[in-house]
Amino acid sequence: MAEITHVPVLFEEVIAGLQPQAGGKYIDGTVGSGGHAEGILAASGPSGLLLGLDRDQDAVQEANRRLSSDGGRVTLMHASFVEMARCAQKLGWEIADGILLDLGISSQQLEQGERGFSFSRAGPLDMRFDQSSGLQAAEIVNRWPQNEIAEILSDFGEESQSKKIARAVVQARPIDGTLELARIVAEQKNEKKGSRHAATKTFQALRMAVNSELDNLRVVLPTALDLLAPGGRLAVIAFHSLEDRMVKHVFQRESRDCLCAPEQIVCACKHRANVRKVMRRPIKPTAEEIARNPRSRSARLRIAEKL
Ligand SMILES: C[S@@+](CC[C@H](N)C(=O)[O-])C[C@H]1O[C@@H](n2cnc3c(N)ncnc32)[C@H](O)[C@@H]1O
Repeated sequence: MAEITHVPVLFEEVIAGLQPQAGGKYIDGTVGSGGHAEGILAASGPSGLLLGLDRDQDAVQEANRRLSSDGGRVTLMHASFVEMARCAQKLGWEIADGILLDLGISSQQLEQGERGFSFSRAGPLDMRFDQSSGLQAAEIVNRWPQNEIAEILSDFGEESQSKKIARAVVQARPIDGTLELARIVAEQKNEKKGSRHAATKTFQALRMAVNSELDNLRVVLPTALDLLAPGGRLAVIAFHSLEDRMVKHVFQRESRDCLCAPEQIVCACKHRANVRKVMRRPIKPTAEEIARNPRSRSARLRIAEKL
């Protein structure tokens, strides 16, 4: 198979937004195959440092191959971004000057059938970013109660036919792989030709559940903001409306001085703004980027700067 490359999304916008400087310390919490990381290193040369994390051991190896010429400036760790503070401490970093989170899945992960992320490639129902541990999608599909499956499909996939699909999944057990699951879901839905594949939302929901993606994002946002030096920036690219909403709310909350209810005349919460939103609305890919890289179409970039 031809080598699959992941095209970094909103590349120029991320680099312009993070404003990497020589001598700065940067964390790429989702280093993937190192596309954004390479840009951060180039913009912070010759002395900027980069810590890259990924839950996927294959991605860490891929990033290592790509970034090895910058060896002395790069440290890569197989770790979740929720461990970011501990990983930074291992390098003796108390603070970082910029942090990137490019959420979701890479092209390599999606297109390797054996990872189980794709409804159009034969593979096991795995879907773990970290293949060394944790729950696999097969466990959910073949063992979880029908109502819990319906809940996942509705909450994470925003799937309007979640109950019908969950019933069909439970009736068809045991389900043996990605293509069988995709067929069962498609049979429940009457999608028009040319629209998205009927199983898109189901596969997205299962992946988000398997990897606890929303929970991890909830944990990492305050951790990342804490780690930033004054003037340092956190850039987050979300591909899912629930993730983007979470980023928006955290940035909104942390950029306000008081969180008391409007009827409270004297502030009792003592909350003080610790970030500034760099822009009011998220940055979206241009039509040209979407044409070049259709996977970028749902990307939303938000950036906050530590006060
Ligand atoms: C969209 S890709 C990143 C691509 C990267 N920006 C590039 O330019 O190549 C998302 C990556 O995040 C990783 N990932 C997802 N959740 C993670 C987590 N909690 N901690 C660390 N990495 C995570 C995935 O394994 C995947 O490699």
